[in-house]
Amino acid sequence: MKTVHTLAQLRAALASSQRPAFVATMGNLHPGHLELVRQARTLGDITVASIFVNRLQFAPHEDFDSYPRTLQADADQLQVAGCDLLFAPSEAELYPQPQTFKVLPDAALADILEGHFRPGFFTGVCTVVMKLFQAVFAGHAQGVALFGMKDYQQQLIIGQMVRQFALPIEIVTGQTQRAADGLALSSRNGYLSAAERAQAAELHRALRQLAAQARAAADARALAALQQRAEQALAAQGWQPDYLTVRRRSDLLAPEGQLADQALVVLGAARLGRTRLIDNLEF
Ligand code: PAF
Repeated sequence: MKTVHTLAQLRAALASSQRPAFVATMGNLHPGHLELVRQARTLGDITVASIFVNRLQFAPHEDFDSYPRTLQADADQLQVAGCDLLFAPSEAELYPQPQTFKVLPDAALADILEGHFRPGFFTGVCTVVMKLFQAVFAGHAQGVALFGMKDYQQQLIIGQMVRQFALPIEIVTGQTQRAADGLALSSRNGYLSAAERAQAAELHRALRQLAAQARAAADARALAALQQRAEQALAAQGWQPDYLTVRRRSDLLAPEGQLADQALVVLGAARLGRTRLIDNLEF
């Protein structure tokens, strides 16, 4: 695997590719990222990963400074997973000037759920992903980019961005990878203490239970009551839930009418100690 740090080196390394397959990350990799890389290998003629902790998607009170930077260990794992090219730019390389032009996603999709609790988050994500797409795919007639299902809203918004800007990039969503007890793998799981880690799969269990109950809910009112009860149950176990909610998969709006035959997803975000975890399940 070759590691490059500048846009010029990246473009030179990709010059002969017909179809790059790209996995964007912020590093501190876990098996979920590596599974995306392995999947990418089957979808393009060169597999590219990026590692860049994107200041633009962190609020001032969030963990930008403490976000684990583990470049060498990440590079070793990427190599084993079969990545061909690692792009690890500095902030000065990716943001040589203050980024005053931004990609503003549709508020209907980006200001709810994660966007409600993390205002501006998806603007930061879309802006850096657009820059990374320009870096990796410019000059290529086609390409593929893979994102994890754990960040459900993110992969939906990026898919919409790609369609609206008519980018010649196929977006592929990889399944969430889970620990044996069901906890969704995430770089932020490393923040959990041993006691919190033993408790952390409760979020996944709460979502599974809510999904099972939601199918039987008679109407939106009954569903709202179930969601409220699920949040209260998690809070009683020491969590601070932001939301546990059932939404339509297509636009993340609340379902209306009969739930039985709709394509739904249950999404949750909750804080355990100082760690904020998110997860979801399609059902
Ligand atoms: O999912 C992430 O790790 C980040 O949001 C991404 C897509 C790499 C953009 O910084």
